[in-house]
This record gives sequence, structure tokens and C-alpha cells, in this order.
Amino acid sequence: MEKDTGLPRHVAFIMDGNGRWAEQRGLPRLEGHRAGVQNIRPIITFLSRHGIEYLTIYAFSTENWSRPEDEVSGLFHLLEEVIHREARELHKNGIRIRHIGRLDGLTPALKKSIIDSVNLTRDNTGMTVGLAFNYGGRAEILDAVRNIMARGIPPAQLNERLFARYLYNPDFPDVDLVIRTGGEIRTSNFLIWQAAYAEYYFTPVLWPDFNEEELEKALQTYGRRQRRFGGLSSGAAC
Ligand code: IPE
Ligand code: IPE
Ligand code: MG
Repeated sequence: MEKDTGLPRHVAFIMDGNGRWAEQRGLPRLEGHRAGVQNIRPIITFLSRHGIEYLTIYAFSTENWSRPEDEVSGLFHLLEEVIHREARELHKNGIRIRHIGRLDGLTPALKKSIIDSVNLTRDNTGMTVGLAFNYGGRAEILDAVRNIMARGIPPAQLNERLFARYLYNPDFPDVDLVIRTGGEIRTSNFLIWQAAYAEYYFTPVLWPDFNEEELEKALQTYGRRQRRFGGLSSGAAC
């Protein structure tokens, strides 16, 4: 839900366009991913300074496994390095790191750097950053259903609130604003339950070029949106 500051409480990023950024420069795609991961910290810092409470970033989807093996392994290495390097700095700034997605299938080294960064920052009270790695919205819903069934919860007892408790990050509020860079106008299986009433902001700017100025524009656009959640705009009922 929106706070009266006009700022979103939970922002989610689909960080798209790394490959095209590299291709435009005649570089291998992995160089685009390298530039892309370097762009994460400044965005986290900016949002945290602006008092955003939750941020979720989409770094690798369950569908991204269909890419060439060297791109997938290159990305894993890059992320492992970056998490390892950045976790301490984020920790100093009070940021809490969480993971959403399936850890199964990731390399032991990457799994370890994700788990270590989550443990290191567990008790921090600043902005919470959800790292969506090996994440898929449909997989998340299936995992929730499996856990609900395994617990033997009777169908009549199930409602939206109970269901949401079985999502990967049940304590995160619903998403207020999804920002997708790279020009595509689609969700690509991202937070399909949590973003049911999110505002979407699509920009052609490629992720490595997405900077504070672009982020200001997205937040300003969000501030002008009128959210109704299926109701009527305020004042319309009288
Ligand atoms: C987004 O950039 C990062 C991941 C999906 C891992 P892409 O790699 O999808 O970049 P484009 O869309 O090919 O430009
Ligand atoms: C979405 O980007 C996933 C991430 C940014 C991690 P994709 O590049 O994988 O999405 P599609 O394939 O264009 O839908
Ligand atoms: Mg893409």
C-alpha cells in the first residue's frame, strides 16, 4: 500500500537490457551483465536514502536457464563475486538481504555467497533487498501449493492471506511499483502474485544506463498515478 509520502513502499526491478547494451558496443553479452551488476549498488543506495522500505531485484529467472551454458555460468560467477563483495558494504549501511527463488541447481559457491549475505545482514533494520535469483512467479506459486498440501491444510481454510504466507518472502508487502528497463512491455513471470495491483513503469533505457535521474522520473510518474485497487477514486463516491 502507498504511504502518504507518495513514495512506493515496495519497488521491484526487472533489470533488462544488459545483452543489448553489450551488443551495441560490439562487446560479448557478459560485459553487459558486468556493467549491469555494477549498477545495482547505486540504485540500492539511492532508494534506501529515499526511505524506500523494500526492493526486489530480478537477476535470473527460472526461464533464463535456456540461455547458452557459458552465459549462464558467466552470470553465476559474476553474481557470486558481486554478492560476496557488496554484502559487507550493504551490511555497513544497514541493508538486509533476502533471497527469493530456488537455491537448488545453483553452484555451491553461488549458493554459499547468497546464504552468507542473508545471514550476515539478517538483523539489519534498514531497507530490505530481495534478490530474485533462479526465481519464477509460477514456480513460487507451485512451491507454495506444495507446502500447503504437505501441511494438510483443508481447502476450506485456504484464503489469500493464508496462501501469501507460503510465498518465498511472506513478510514483504505487496509490490507498489514495478520498473522494467530495456523496452519490453511484459512481466516475464516476475512476482505475479505480489504485483497483482502494482503500478508498472516501462522504459526503453537499458539497465546498465539506468541511473538516478531515470529513477527520479519513475518515482515521479508513480507519484502521479491514482491507485484504486478496484474501488473508486477518492471523492468519486460522494
Ligand atoms: C537482463 O538482461 C539480465 C538477465 C536476464 C540475466 P538480458 O540478458 O536479458 O539483456 P537483453 O534483453 O538480451 O538485452
Ligand atoms: C527478465 O528478462 C528476467 C530478468 C531480468 C532476470 P528476460 O530478458 O529473461 O525476459 P524475456 O525473455 O525478454 O521475457
Ligand atoms: Mg532480456
